[in-house]
Amino acid sequence: DIRINNLLPEEHKIAIVAHRGSSGYAPECTLSAYRLGVNMKADYIEIDLRQTLDGELIAMHDETVNRTTNGSGAVKNMTLAEIKALDAGSWYNETEFVDEKVPTLREIFEAFGKDTHYMLETKAPEENSGLEEKVWALVKEFELTDHVAIQSFSKESLLKFRERSNNVPLFQLFWYDRPAQISEALLEEISAYANGIGANFLRINENYVRKVKQAGLLMYPYTVNHKANMTKAVRWGVDGVHTDYPDRFKEVVDKM
Ligand code: G3P
Ligand code: CA
Repeated sequence: DIRINNLLPEEHKIAIVAHRGSSGYAPECTLSAYRLGVNMKADYIEIDLRQTLDGELIAMHDETVNRTTNGSGAVKNMTLAEIKALDAGSWYNETEFVDEKVPTLREIFEAFGKDTHYMLETKAPEENSGLEEKVWALVKEFELTDHVAIQSFSKESLLKFRERSNNVPLFQLFWYDRPAQISEALLEEISAYANGIGANFLRINENYVRKVKQAGLLMYPYTVNHKANMTKAVRWGVDGVHTDYPDRFKEVVDKM
């Protein structure tokens, strides 16, 4: 009996995280991609967070604007006004997303409020000093503390959120370039501050998932886009999946 949850993961329910929004259908990390994620009833929309030169929080995966806009340069060296002047849609599709801008986190919260949950990822926290404080302040301002989870490759960054809240779900991210293994000692260390692990699906296996779950942690692999991998992830007993195609994951689960 596999069902999909609409809040935090409960037993036998698998959370769907719309990775950079429903980014299989719209330019990643834009309001269009996030709106699609919300409309497809993903449990979370996933947002990569960076700070501009003038300290504004924006949704962008890469260190530079080069790949996902018509501009060039590092986010940390550009003001919000400079970034707002860029076209964040045409690289993806020349006609459909011409007016797309890079959104701020505030704009995303304004657009969707409590209609969804937010999987917020702190990117390069070592270069983005003060990022965690600003993110948490904004979450509180919008009264969304029950609607967010935080993920990061940086333990230090996650700890800054744990200092501020015992309840916010935290996910430690890993990226493996070879078949993934994880020691009991590391699992124990992570359990002391986080609620789950996110890792690249293609390098994990059923045994990895079992170990993570036995340690009492949630397992959310990324980025699961192909149907065969979705089926596999469900069979392995994952607690959530990050996908660019939330609708496709629902279809797969419905047929199982
Ligand atoms: O959702 C997990 C995933 O977002 C981490 O990798 O590179 O897509 O941010 P990345
Ligand atoms: Ca991400």
